[in-house]
Amino acid sequence: MTRINQNSYERLIDENEIRIDGRKLDELRPINIEVGILTNAYGSALLHHGKNKILAAVFGPRELHPRHLALPDRALVRCEYRMTTFSVEERKSPAPSRREIELSKVIRESLEPAIFTHLYPRTSVDVFIEVLQADGGTRCDGITAASTALADAGVPLRDLVVACAVGKVEGHILLDLDDIEDKKGEADMPIAILPRNKEVTLLQMDGQLSREEFQRALDLAIKGCEQIHEMQKEALRKKYSEIQEEVLEELNEFSEKEENQD
Ligand code: CDP
Repeated sequence: MTRINQNSYERLIDENEIRIDGRKLDELRPINIEVGILTNAYGSALLHHGKNKILAAVFGPRELHPRHLALPDRALVRCEYRMTTFSVEERKSPAPSRREIELSKVIRESLEPAIFTHLYPRTSVDVFIEVLQADGGTRCDGITAASTALADAGVPLRDLVVACAVGKVEGHILLDLDDIEDKKGEADMPIAILPRNKEVTLLQMDGQLSREEFQRALDLAIKGCEQIHEMQKEALRKKYSEIQEEVLEELNEFSEKEENQD
């Protein structure tokens, strides 16, 4: 959320309220979500969002190591958000940065309210988020990808968690800031919600908004989250309808063989 001298760039929003990448003020970047792409994880999701590419893998509920961390009444949720060295323009050091440690905590806290942890005492649910390519809003995409991967892993959830950022750039309230808008803008506000009851599990803000701007930004973020939530559900449905088709095909083959034997 680094701010940059406003004078060092040309305008990001033109007189027709069109953004530098051609989007309207309330438009999301193109999004594609795939689930179940890693065979070794219990659940996984790959999220393409504009230029962001984020991979999430979930392991658990499973036996917890080291055992002394075990919680007697619920599962321990652990989260690791990492940026690959090649994910940003300047090579990112492979050592965990303060930012990555902070984002791991923030993402874990935004996912945890959705998980029925009390069903799995003394176990762990481990969430790994790898940013393969970054262009602003990676904490939000990490949350969206991770909650889709949790659902893919079959972890019981109150709801999916879905996140997106809103902000203020050149006086306009914008949905889904990319890297340059995040850096040049006056304010940036990442938000995560449980869409069913609109419970907010993450709300951060860098910069300043008036009370009226805050309300408009929040409403816009919720609309953005609702759109992304539809894509999460669609990605999960797609995988399971493919599995259903495979199972039905196998059942058909099996019953044909049985009939031939009779
Ligand atoms: O990614 P997010 O907006 O959640 O977090 P941020 O700390 O506000 O970072 C904004 C953007 O800065 C990232 O998405 C990356 O595109 C970029 N960044 C970078 O270029 N180098 C870093 N070491 C960290 C972030």
